[in-house]
Amino acid sequence: MVILTSVAKFAPILNQKKATKSRSPTTTNPDNIQPKKNHDLTDAPKPHNLYNRTNELATLKQWILVENSPIVTITGLSGIGKTTLARQLVEEIKDNFQGVIWRNHSKFTTLKSLQTNLIEFLSQEQKTKYSSILDYLRSRSFPGGETHRCLIILDDFQETLTTGEFVTTYIPEYKNYGKLIKEIAHSPHNSCLLLLSWEKPTEIANLETENCHCHTLQLQGLGKSATELLKLKKLTDEDKWLELINLYSGNPLWLNIIASTIQDLFNGRVSQFLSYSSLFLGDLEPILHEHYRRLSESEKLIMLWLANQDFGGNICNKPPEFSGNNVFLGAIQSLRKRGLIKKNVSKEGSVFTLEPVIKQYVKNQSNS
Ligand SMILES: Nc1ncnc2c1ncn2[C@@H]1O[C@H](COP(=O)(O)OP(=O)(O)OP(=O)(O)O)[C@@H](O)[C@H]1O
Ligand SMILES: [Mg+2]
Repeated sequence: MVILTSVAKFAPILNQKKATKSRSPTTTNPDNIQPKKNHDLTDAPKPHNLYNRTNELATLKQWILVENSPIVTITGLSGIGKTTLARQLVEEIKDNFQGVIWRNHSKFTTLKSLQTNLIEFLSQEQKTKYSSILDYLRSRSFPGGETHRCLIILDDFQETLTTGEFVTTYIPEYKNYGKLIKEIAHSPHNSCLLLLSWEKPTEIANLETENCHCHTLQLQGLGKSATELLKLKKLTDEDKWLELINLYSGNPLWLNIIASTIQDLFNGRVSQFLSYSSLFLGDLEPILHEHYRRLSESEKLIMLWLANQDFGGNICNKPPEFSGNNVFLGAIQSLRKRGLIKKNVSKEGSVFTLEPVIKQYVKNQSNS
């Protein structure tokens, strides 16, 4: 991850002219209208105490405030902290936007109902009425007028994607979402769509290869600073905490859950918990199942193949179950978009591995 210390003091940057690389709006605001701020965070969670996300916050501010990115996506497995990070980001940047709205896809079963809700919000305080989100965003683009910008945060984006097949298509109720995303990326406006998702939508992956300032942050675990969580849980054997954090990938939700288990069953003694030879998942199983049930059969085969490799699976040695390359490579690519496999580059080629928790989950599945 790029460390962008220069944007830590981002507010002054916003008052300067936009960076040359940023997108520029098209229409004019001759009257220099400064509308009232309209922030709807009723669907957002409360801001939460955040550990170790300074670099991520700086990167997101750079993309949204300086580069004026039309679409930013935060991806990562359940519990890694997407919502928590986005909530803190919104708290820190909301005053740069006239409109801020936070919505959750799980509350809207169709694209139409989501669009209607967003249009209802965007149409407030605007005399001209339009029929599409895009028209509202376009009509709000005035040069030098950051106050007319909107920030739309859409959480749980994975709810719009199909399950049981590769990450490519939307559920029928959301079938036109890809088109809307492309239009938002390519149209002239200075608002931003912030998507939070388990999986990276194909359109987003493709847009990133074009020159339209769309970005994705794949959120990683908390690393060493997750020790703060363990401290709060009053665990003991501090010398074993890093091992515990690495085994549970620094995922704050997984660590919170497992720390409660350690407190409950081992009175907080991490060494005793770690003395068992296989990793205990307990209450993590249903959470991991939510990811696993979304996979296609060929992705499940790859997961099983990787779970049984001590040193990962090389892309050049496909398992015998796959006769053709298309399905094998498609499944690997889809698992990458889901953030379920890690890639290491070696002299022999790309080697894919599973995080210990996921490996254990897949093993448990194959034994049940
Ligand atoms: N940086 C952090 N510091 C401390 N706690 C955190 C941090 N990030 C997340 N958490 C805690 O971890 C839990 C999961 O975080 P969050 O809900 O943001 O994950 P998520 O990625 O949005 O998960 P999901 O995809 O299931 O919605 C929450 O209880 C949150 O308080
Ligand atoms: Mg979330």
